[in-house]
Order: sequence, then C-alpha cells, then structure tokens
Amino acid sequence: MMTGDISVFWDESENTVKCKLPITSPTSKVRVKRKGLEPVATRQVKLCEDDYIEWQISYGEVKKLSEFGEILALAYKNGIVKKDDINEVKKEFENTKTFEELYKISREETGKDYHKFKVLYEKTPILRYEFDDGHYIDIVLRHKQRAVGYQAMVYIYIPIDKVEPKNLVGRRANPRERVVWTPKKEHILGLLKAFLIASKDHRNDMIKIIEKITQS
Ligand code: ADE
Repeated sequence: MMTGDISVFWDESENTVKCKLPITSPTSKVRVKRKGLEPVATRQVKLCEDDYIEWQISYGEVKKLSEFGEILALAYKNGIVKKDDINEVKKEFENTKTFEELYKISREETGKDYHKFKVLYEKTPILRYEFDDGHYIDIVLRHKQRAVGYQAMVYIYIPIDKVEPKNLVGRRANPRERVVWTPKKEHILGLLKAFLIASKDHRNDMIKIIEKITQS
C-alpha cells in the first residue's frame, strides 16, 4: 500500500544512499510512532523529539529489488559496503539458528480477574538491534496470517530528528509530506543481519540477493 510513495536513490553530491519516506499515511509501511509505540496522526498532532519513523522495510526479489534490496545494491555499487563487509556478516549469520526457530509467542496468567474473566498477557518475543545514534531495528514474531507457524517482521526505527527536513519537531506534517533518511553503512549492515537472522526464508532470500549484487 502506498509503496509507490517510497523511493531509494543515490545522491551523487553527498555520496550517500537516500530514502524518501511518506510520513502522513498511517496505513502504509512507513508510520510515525510516539516513543516507537503508538501511531501518530501527523497531520493533526505536532511531532515530538522522541517520535520515530517506523519502516517495515521490504527487499523485493532478485529480479526486482525494492527498498532494502535497492539500498544494498546502491551501497555496494558505490563502495559504501564492500565485499568483505558482506562476507563477514554472511559468515557470522549463515549457519546460526534463526529467531523464528528459537522463539515462540506465549501466554501467561496473571492470577487476576475482571468480572470473573481471567486476565492474561500474551508475550511476543522481539529481537532489537540498537545503534549508537538512536536508531534501532526490531524483529517481531507474529502468527502467520493465513497459515500455521510464525513469521518474523523486520522494522527499522529512525529518530525523527535524524531525517530532513530538520524542522519537523513542534509542527504537524504538511499534506503528503515526505522526509529524507540517509542510511549509514552500519544501518545497512544491521538490516542485512536482521534479515539473515529473522527466519530461514528471509535468510535464503537475502543470500540470493547478496549473490546477485556482488557478482554483477
Ligand atoms: N519481507 C519483506 N520485507 C519484510 C519485512 N520488513 N519483514 C518481514 N518480512 C519481510
């Protein structure tokens, strides 16, 4: 949904990858979240300094890369991420057990009740990778929507004050406003690690994508 609103490109003058992200569509893969948790209606509510942009970033297919696939390809082509960087990450993660294999969703009784209903909590495991600059990646386990088993979802959280324009805090978003995020090498390698550890399927996809990118 609204994927056409996300674009990834190479900035010649700054020698970086850039991502243009919509911040006014609460149903899209990019949303603004207060403290990383609650969605913010950015056209109605003024943005705060501890808001994050949550991006459920996709990668596409070998034939047609998208989003993270494009970021990785551009970073590789332009020498930001090198073959050795990719090989090192791949070596560390290619044979480890995946998050999806190791963790489960569970339910716990609290011993409390509400009008004779027992109160329980459902516990969802999350793998979080925190960067030094306030960004973080969450891998969240879900039940598969129309099948049996689990599905790992990967999200990157970008602090609102790390995108352009720098005047977002203290105002509402403009109609269809988009912001520009400049992923650093560490964020790119962090996302690569996240997809390699999330599940077998994500790992296999990522290995195919890496092979394509590094051989062309
Ligand atoms: N497949 C493509 N993008 C994904 C993401 N962000 N999380 C889980 N699976 C995905």
